[in-house]
Amino acid sequence: MPTHQSLGGATDEELLQRMVATHPDRFGNDYWALFAAQVAPRLPARPVMIDLGCGPGLFLRDLSTRYPAATLHGYDVTPAMIAHGQRLTYAGATPALSLLDVAERPLPHAAGSVDLVSMSSVLHVFDEPLPTLAEIRRVLAPAGVFLLHDWVRQPLSTYLALRRENLREGEVEDLRRGFRLFPVHNKYTTDDWQWLLAEAGFAIGHQAQLRASHRIFVTTPSATGVASPRT
Ligand SMILES: C[S@@+](CC[C@H](N)C(=O)[O-])C[C@H]1O[C@@H](n2cnc3c(N)ncnc32)[C@H](O)[C@@H]1O
Repeated sequence: MPTHQSLGGATDEELLQRMVATHPDRFGNDYWALFAAQVAPRLPARPVMIDLGCGPGLFLRDLSTRYPAATLHGYDVTPAMIAHGQRLTYAGATPALSLLDVAERPLPHAAGSVDLVSMSSVLHVFDEPLPTLAEIRRVLAPAGVFLLHDWVRQPLSTYLALRRENLREGEVEDLRRGFRLFPVHNKYTTDDWQWLLAEAGFAIGHQAQLRASHRIFVTTPSATGVASPRT
């Protein structure tokens, strides 16, 4: 399966540094206002939270500060990301960080045992997202939350303009990378994400577009939904 690095022509270290540099913009005040209004009220006092494709661990560090009594787990397929997260200092609970390909492997959690599963800017690269969604639904508690934040389709001109502004891209090689990544980042429309979530047995409680490029879905296991089995 292609990786973020192979698709973007970046080394592990370059992707890591980009995730670190852009973390404050991606997880800023708007993100945490949505989290406080839509996610926090659904969580127990001592939640179990897991972040899939956790990257350098900065979202887990934020959760550790806000939920010092939580049990936190992070999974990522890139060793450099896990190593970075293991070097961080955490204000509250220290997350257990593990190397795991969540597209291929089951999550090491009992059914119904997790209160929050988060996945940010990861699922769009998976060849087949439904087995991973089924696995997320399996581990979620009946009132648990799956928080999906990912790329949503935009027009080509908007996408390239956004890259020019945000990444200060302008050279011929940057433009070539923009065209190469366009089908990767613009794979799913909002309707496609909604269909995938419904198909996997999630009910959408709230959704928003905090940035032009990304849509966030606050979901819970639906009473009637049937998760697709992992094959
Ligand atoms: C664009 S980064 C996002 C990192 C983090 N979620 C964030 O928002 O800062 C995508 C991350 O997903 C990880 N990833 C990609 N495919 C994965 C897989 N199959 N299993 C686990 N992690 C994966 C990558 O190694 C990378 O750290």
